[in-house]
Amino acid sequence: MCGIVGYVGKKRAIDKLVLGLKTLEYRGYDSAGVAVMQDNHVIVVKDKGRINNLEAILDYDALNGNVGIAHTRWATHGIPSLKNAHPHEDQNKHFTVVHNGIIENYMELKDFLIKEGFKFESQTDTEVIPVLMEYYYQKDKDVVKAFKHTLDDLKGSYAILVITPLISNTILVAKKNSPLVIGEGSDGIYIASDIPAIIKYTKDFYFLSDGEKAIIDDKIRFYDEHFEEIKKQSKTINWEMDAIDKNGFKDYMLKEIYEQPASLKNTLNGIIVNNKPVQFVGFSLNKKYLESLKQIYIVACGTAMHAGLVGKYAMEKMLRIPVNVEVASEFRYRDPIVDKNTLCIFISQSGETADTIAALKLAKEKGAKTIAISNVFESSITREADHTIYTHAGPEIAVASTKAYISQVGIIVAFAIYLCDTLFGSNKDTNYLKEELLHLPDLMEEVIKNEDNYHELAKKMINVHDLFYIGRGCDYYIAMEGSLKLKEISYIHSEAYPAGELKHGPIALIDKGTFVLGIITDSKIADKTLSNLEEVKSRGANIVLITNQNIREEQVISIPDINPILSPILAIIPLQFIAYYVAKEKDLDVDKPRNLAKSVTVE
Ligand code: F6R
Repeated sequence: MCGIVGYVGKKRAIDKLVLGLKTLEYRGYDSAGVAVMQDNHVIVVKDKGRINNLEAILDYDALNGNVGIAHTRWATHGIPSLKNAHPHEDQNKHFTVVHNGIIENYMELKDFLIKEGFKFESQTDTEVIPVLMEYYYQKDKDVVKAFKHTLDDLKGSYAILVITPLISNTILVAKKNSPLVIGEGSDGIYIASDIPAIIKYTKDFYFLSDGEKAIIDDKIRFYDEHFEEIKKQSKTINWEMDAIDKNGFKDYMLKEIYEQPASLKNTLNGIIVNNKPVQFVGFSLNKKYLESLKQIYIVACGTAMHAGLVGKYAMEKMLRIPVNVEVASEFRYRDPIVDKNTLCIFISQSGETADTIAALKLAKEKGAKTIAISNVFESSITREADHTIYTHAGPEIAVASTKAYISQVGIIVAFAIYLCDTLFGSNKDTNYLKEELLHLPDLMEEVIKNEDNYHELAKKMINVHDLFYIGRGCDYYIAMEGSLKLKEISYIHSEAYPAGELKHGPIALIDKGTFVLGIITDSKIADKTLSNLEEVKSRGANIVLITNQNIREEQVISIPDINPILSPILAIIPLQFIAYYVAKEKDLDVDKPRNLAKSVTVE
């Protein structure tokens, strides 16, 4: 979703801003803009479309100021257009603002300000911020007071940066339910909605909590929600630059597919040790508490929810406790039956997904213990949850999740083993599963080696309109994730179905040449899925089989055999490659698919 960058320092701000915006491109956007403080007035340049459009109209020579803010917008209120692009200003050009999030009471504020004689240019909710600041500024000519009063009036979520010629060397910053980090580099102070935008300049970051503010010139002053000055400690993030470079790969997605074995190793490092009970840093759950559990909920969105489904499969098999997996946007409005005897696990790569965070808050209100599984250090979800488990997959830049999914599956299975070890003590089954988990990165490398075969298969699918992915048990969950990958980056419609469910309706859609991708990784139910594939084959379907079984089919992708609980980690790789190559063959932007955003901070 929207991206924010800000810079105050010794260097030309515009270079820092444009580079920062480019690094944030993966978040998804439809317009971009910058504002630079230039000799005591603010120059705003913005345009619809890609950052390249913006760059083409920037007069770099005329922009050599050292203070600036920038934004990429993902439209919520108002169409993608030049007028709706950020930054926004008040009529007197006293306040220039970029904002992520949603001002829920903007209509009310806008009506009030219009009655007070103020004019608006855009359809956005954001524009009320500079106009309201100007309203308060006119009252007592105090910029900081105007900022405070404005924030007091706003309802909703925001990360806000404001620059003003009234204090021209300064950026005012506020955060509530929208990500924001501040980094202190050797040549200035950087602000961004995401670490990758500024990791090039520093490894030391300040994370604002909700309601906190900062006023930044040559130093940073932090304030709490009551605008009382506070001290904050920086935290060191040891990401290397190559984690956010393409490193010679054509796309981030391809790079991230290749990084998966290493990511999984990182995820499991220190958690899974052969023949030792599983341990997590910073928390433990005792046996008595686990024995009191009546059910477990796993709540997430999209790919993270698909990882949760594998968690359900693993936990129910090992623990015999009912595990419900639910989409966060449904859970939060459904009044779910959750109480202190429910353990609720929330999975979110970004840790900023609005629905998942709201679902977590609800579960807490209902008395459940909450655990967040996140890839992003200090992300919002990690502050809300009782305990956090980090996936340590490294930064994921491509919008379509790959390595984060693998790490989520790895960690949720590790968590299932942890629960099992704590409840029943380590045993030969869990110890064997640990061994298999540790062996997985090597097996993943083997699957990745067959990239060319997946590419050849993908070439056959580029003109297809509909596709089906089918499987049973965990294979159905893999089908769901494979189908989502294809949809989001190739724009080909596909559906995942439990293999046994096809004949209850969807089989009517099978026609001569319809592609059906079958997944079979569990010998116990292999014959069943195979029969379902025969049913669609006899109606003309074009079958592709992904399997670790010895099955003869015309188009087979063979993967190594492993415990069905872990097979998603191997079986998803060919499906990721297929989605990737279908999109590439169609000449699409795989890293930044249309309409999508990397972290979905609105509901
Ligand atoms: C798909 C994808 C999305 C995310 C979903 C949740 O490739 O990435 O479906 O999984 O938006 O995002 P997080 O995990 O950040 O909460």
